[in-house]
Amino acid sequence: MKVVMLGAPGAGKGTQAKKMAERWQIPHISTGDIFRANIKAGTELGAKAKEYMDQGLLVPDELVVDLVVDRLQQEDCKDGYILDGFPRTIPQAEALDAALEKVNDKLDKAINIDVPDENIINRMSGRRACVQCGATYHITYNPTKVEGKCDACNADLILRDDDKPETVKKRLGVYHEQTQPLIDYYAGKGILSNIDGTIGMDEVFHSIEKVLGA
Ligand code: AP5
Repeated sequence: MKVVMLGAPGAGKGTQAKKMAERWQIPHISTGDIFRANIKAGTELGAKAKEYMDQGLLVPDELVVDLVVDRLQQEDCKDGYILDGFPRTIPQAEALDAALEKVNDKLDKAINIDVPDENIINRMSGRRACVQCGATYHITYNPTKVEGKCDACNADLILRDDDKPETVKKRLGVYHEQTQPLIDYYAGKGILSNIDGTIGMDEVFHSIEKVLGA
């Protein structure tokens, strides 16, 4: 099963992709997580990506496409994967289709998690991320057992730099301009499913199971 997750920043792509990866035992590939890991490791890619991420802008296509195409060629992707945060522009989607076509392959589904902008700002200000393992929580909707500490590794939780309200507004603008057109792109290919992302996390997951026929 080869699935792309679409949705505004904070729509719940990462939350659902993680559950899907566990349920179907396929890799969850998040370009945001890959960039954050590179920033933490102090790589050249991380330094370049940070310049854009801190401003709420997209990292240029040329820094993203090869990285994902290489990742999809790894052995653990042979039975499928969940792409979270990629593609994010029409050129990225076309590059992905071209790379898959080369090996006689194609995506099975694009799932759009639909959440209005007004819900997003509230969600992002309440999201907390683990400095160590990157796990994410929400102070109200998905709290940790011990306040401020990651359930998985007990490290400290922080508000991501790009989750500050001004940056979130910028990211939403970038989303509407550059990423939202992908909804029509995948609808045109007949593989799009829209899911209401305003309901509880478990209900959203149940809707995803339904559209994937599982
Ligand atoms: P990335 O990390 O991909 O950020 P994003 O797409 O903006 O998505 P988020 O991770 O912010 O949100 P999400 O939809 O995963 O929501 P989550 O599940 O955490 O990218 C960061 C940056 O990297 C980009 O801005 C860009 O600069 C760069 N980048 C990455 N990929 C790129 C690419 N392909 N090209 C160019 N640049 C790229 O949920 C949010 C919160 O809500 C959480 O606290 C969660 O607990 C809570 N929540 C989730 N579901 C629900 C629910 N149903 N009800 C209540 N609360 C919920």
